[in-house]
Formats: sequence, structure tokens, C-alpha cells
Amino acid sequence: MSGERQHLTRVPGLLYGGDYNPEQWPEEVWAEDAKLMREAGVTMATVGVFAWARLQPGPEEWDFGWLDRLLELLDAHGVAVDLATATASPPAWLVRAHPELLPVTADGVRLEFGSRQHYCPSSPVYRAAAVRLTRALAARYAGHPAVALWHVHNEYGDHVTECFCPESAADFRRWLGRRYGDADGLNAAWGTGFWSQHYRTLDEVEPPRTAPGPVNPTQLLDWRRFCSDALLECYRAERAVLAELAPGTPVTTNFMSMFKALDYWKWAAEEDVVSDDAYPDPADPQAYVGAALNYDLMRSLKGGAPWLLLEQAPSAVSWRPVNVPKLPGLQRLWSLQAVSRGADAVMYFQWRASRAGAEKFHSAMLPHRGTDSRGWRESVRFGAELRQLAAVAGGRTRAETAIVLDWDSWWALELDDRPSARMRWPELLRPWYAALHRRSIAVDFVPPGAELAQYRVVLAPNLYLLRQTTADWLGAYAATGGHLVCGPFSGVVDEHDHIHLGGYPAPLRETLGVVVDEYWPLPEGATTTVTLADGRELTASRWTEWLETIDAQPVARYASGPLTGLPAVTRRGTAWYLGCDLGPDTGAVLDTVLAEARVRPVLDTPEGVEATRRGPGHLFLLNHGDHPAEIDLPEEWATATDLLDPARTPGPALTLGPLGVAVLQRPTPPTE
Ligand code: GAL
Repeated sequence: MSGERQHLTRVPGLLYGGDYNPEQWPEEVWAEDAKLMREAGVTMATVGVFAWARLQPGPEEWDFGWLDRLLELLDAHGVAVDLATATASPPAWLVRAHPELLPVTADGVRLEFGSRQHYCPSSPVYRAAAVRLTRALAARYAGHPAVALWHVHNEYGDHVTECFCPESAADFRRWLGRRYGDADGLNAAWGTGFWSQHYRTLDEVEPPRTAPGPVNPTQLLDWRRFCSDALLECYRAERAVLAELAPGTPVTTNFMSMFKALDYWKWAAEEDVVSDDAYPDPADPQAYVGAALNYDLMRSLKGGAPWLLLEQAPSAVSWRPVNVPKLPGLQRLWSLQAVSRGADAVMYFQWRASRAGAEKFHSAMLPHRGTDSRGWRESVRFGAELRQLAAVAGGRTRAETAIVLDWDSWWALELDDRPSARMRWPELLRPWYAALHRRSIAVDFVPPGAELAQYRVVLAPNLYLLRQTTADWLGAYAATGGHLVCGPFSGVVDEHDHIHLGGYPAPLRETLGVVVDEYWPLPEGATTTVTLADGRELTASRWTEWLETIDAQPVARYASGPLTGLPAVTRRGTAWYLGCDLGPDTGAVLDTVLAEARVRPVLDTPEGVEATRRGPGHLFLLNHGDHPAEIDLPEEWATATDLLDPARTPGPALTLGPLGVAVLQRPTPPTE
């Protein structure tokens, strides 16, 4: 274990801080900022995210003096810098000189300057300007004592994920050329025999702009792939500059949790450290479950390595229709939730609340009211607490259960003209994840083809698009005794969104021993009863299937509606199939699978209490409920120390108040 305890940056312990936008303030304020950062225990500030216009006021003008002074000031106050390449908001002079770099929507509307993220990802002018700025910054600040991390761009895909301008069209055709070689290859893949869509040359192909009716689904699917790759090219170009001029300092770009537009498996492979921006909604009492899911994904993107929570709101955001603040203690609880799931940084948007601009009502570590405010006092208190948790940094979570996540399948599932538009990946995934979460079962996400040896259970809530290789991979897992559970509407199409013929889920038919005669989606509000062999009744909604067994045992059958008597859930040895969406009842089936696979929960906890392990030595207990919760502890934790309250030894039962947290540390953790 100790070999795994490497820090993500040269700064030890858990990083604490936030986005700092000094260009919004007169320089006199900076000294106060630096002093207050020290007071709050800030160890890292993300600097320069939107500073392009300030750094390069004109095509041949550069102004680094202010940044030199700022980095020196922060360094002198012991604050390390996550230095942004500042390329997410091109300045007005660049846009006016090259209006063609502005992005264009599918309807042909060119989006104007005046916000941010206003660039076409394929624009050679934008890419060259971004690389030039990155080069200037890297040349000047490589090796600077303050710079501990490079922050490429900001939230790729935020606001603009796609552009339909002629430059993008040309880039799309080049991408298609690399994928298919020529028009013949593309025609075969896109099934252009349908609706007279045949192309003679690739030059005739355009992006999927707004058209009279449904657009070719494979064209749309390739467009999703291309758009993720086009933004990735932007990232790669900047990262290459940093690799050349600033080697040795880790590079990241901040993700946006489980974000549809970007295939983060591909992206994370090109980062030194994964970082995430997370904005769970305080108005949603279940928000912590979705947050846990996102954090587990971030941890999984680099095979379990710790990651950085680079942005979250100290209290309210400013971009929801109603922006509910966080109750006292909630930001502490949610921050520690991220740490419990592998984060080695707790950082915020932003350090000092803005006076002007679209985000002036967004909370900050230092609110408008200044230091005489609840927000500031919480910032200071929490900074001190985080220092008490330094030993947690670097610890890894060990999961025995995995969930398969494939962006390709997600994109294909949510194209138009499916049996039901209600089949959306996040909604299908959520009850499966929530069932594990409720049972305190640690879970990783894995991409198709990942190593599965460490997992006793592999869940695939939906794999609408299924390559034969992925089906073989799952089949091999189940054939060697792995417990595999596949969800409905899986194994339907190949990588081109062409149906696997001969009865769905064709590539998995042998593994699962079932065949679907017809999909039977349910309209909004409709439900069907499903009965387990022991008589328990479950409820299916959204989706059912006319399912027949070939070589599998029915585990549950429909007990109402047109499919009455047909199997709803089946198993063939350790390979399970759910032919319907059981929503919150999914856990009733998973219970049997988890028990047979002997997957152990971290701890049995009351409703609303999360129990998470980091490394062999730390157990996090987090009470998301609004009542005190009593948690029974096994002997090995009863004598542990609560790092947040070192005077207390929990004993066999520990009581956590509403929003309460304990971080237990065992004196001598066993080696795992
Ligand atoms: C993020 C973004 C920040 C800030 C924040 C507000 O998406 O990266 O710059 O806008 O949201 O919540």
C-alpha cells in the first residue's frame, strides 16, 4: 500500500483552495488575498483560467508582469499554483480579426462574442492562437517554484460541444477519411442504401445539420465521436507544448463529472492527473448519491488513482433557476464525501466572490461580506480540519464490483427513433448504482475490455451498442465464474448502429441463454408487476421485453400486463439478464447476485449514512440525513481514532449528528 501513496503534485497532504481570478481586482487587493489564503490554510490556487485578454492584450502584445508579481506573492505565502493555459475565452481582438473562429449551431447560427467558450474546436486559427499562448506561458513559467500543476484550458465542452461551420465540416471529413478510407467504407458503415443517402465521394458529406426529418443515425453517432475527438485534439496540442517546455510538472484539464459529450476514458489516458468540477444541487435531498457516482467514476478513470476535486461551490451557484445555498456543514460533508471516494484536493469555484459579471451571485470562499461572514468562517474552519486528514492522501479504494461504462453505447442509445426515447443512460444507470450505494458496496467503473480479475461482480446496466469483442470479453468473464448482470435493451447494435440480426441480444445470447422476440416499452406512468420465485413483487417501469429462455432459468416473471407469464429476469449460471427496468427494485435482484458472489459491504449503515474505505487504514462515515444516526462498528474500527476529533475513540457504536462526519484511522492497518 505504501508504494501507492504518491502525491499527485509536489504539495503534500490534501490540497485546499480554489479558482483565483485576480484580474478582476485592483492589485491592492491581492496582498489581502494572499494573507487570507494563508489564514484559511489554502495550499493551492487555480490562476489565470480566463486571463487571455489580460495576458495578450493584442496580437503582438504580451503582459506577464502582473502574473510574475502574483506568482511571487502566492509563493511567498506558501500557496502553490495550478496555472491555467487561459485558452477557454479568446479575446475580442482575436475574434474580430477572425470571426470564422466563432462556433456555429446546427441551425447555422454563429454564436457571438460576449460570454466564454466561443470557439470552433476545429478552427486552425483558434488552435494556433491557443498553442501560441500556451507556449508563451510555458516558456515563462516552466520550473517556477509556485507552479505545481498545469491546468489546460477549462472544462472542455462547457457551453459548446460541437460546431457546424465549414472548417468543422472539413475536419469531420478528414476524420471520416481516417476511419473509413473512402466513400465505399462510409456508405457501408452508414447504411446509406436507406433513403437514397449514398455518397460518391467523402467531399459530399456534411455534419448532421438541421434537416427535414431524422438524420442518418450512424452519421450522428460518428459526429458524437468526432466532436469528442476534435476537442481532444485541442487539449493534445496544448499538452504537447507543456510536455516539451515544462516536463516534470503534472498536467490536468478539469472534467465535468459524468459528461456525455466527451469520452473521458480516452481523455483521462492523456492526463497526468484526473480532476473534476462537481456541482450537486443542495435543493435535491438525494444529490449525494449522484455525487458519489461521479466521484467513483473520477477515481476509476485512471484505474483507481486519486484525483482532484478542482471546483465545487462553497454554497450556492448562480446558474440554476433557483440557487439554494448549502446549510452550515453541508459543504464540509460533501467535500469529505469526495475525499472518501479518492479526491486528494478540495477546491472551489472561487476564492473571492466577483463584483461584476455573470457569476457575481456565485458563492465563494471569501464572500462579498468579507471575513465577517458565515462562509468565510467555514472556509477557515474547514481548511484547518483538512490538515488533520493529511494521512488520507494517496489512499486507494478497493472495489469488488464494477459497472461497465461505454461512451459509444451511451451516444448510440440516446439517438432518435429508438423504441423508447425514455431509455437514457444516466436514468438507467442510476438505480443500479443507488442499490450498491445504499448497501455500502464499493464500486468502480470500467471501460469495455478492462482487466476484470479483481471483480466478483460486473454490472452492465445497458450496453445498447455492443461490439463482438466486448460481448466476448463479458462472455469470458462469466464463463470463468464471474457474476455478470446485464440490463435491458443491450446487445442490440454493432459499432455502426446496425442491428445484430437473429434475435437480440445476439452477441450475448449464448452467455445469457435468452432471446428477445420484441421490445415492449412502457409509456410514462405505466408499470408492470414482476414476481420473484419466492413470491416477492417488484415493479417494472419504462421498459419490458418479450423474452424467451433458450438455456437459462427464469428468476422472475411478469405478473401483469400483456407479457404476463413471460420471464422478466433470468440467469444462466452466473450470467444474469434483466429484461426490464426495475428502477428502485433493481436492488432486490442484485441482493442475490451480491450474496452468491460474496461481495461484502464496507459496513452496514442506517439509511442516509455512507461508509467508504480509503486504503486499509481509513474508514469514512458520512451522515447525509437530518437526524442523528447510530452506527455499529466492528471490533477493528472500535479502537480507531477519529481524525476529525482525535480525542474520541468511537467504541462499538458511534453516533453521528445530522451532516456529521467521522474519519476513522486504524493504528496499524493490515496490509491488503
Ligand atoms: C464551472 C466553471 C467555472 C465557473 C463555475 C461556476 O463550470 O469551470 O469557471 O463558471 O462553473 O459554477
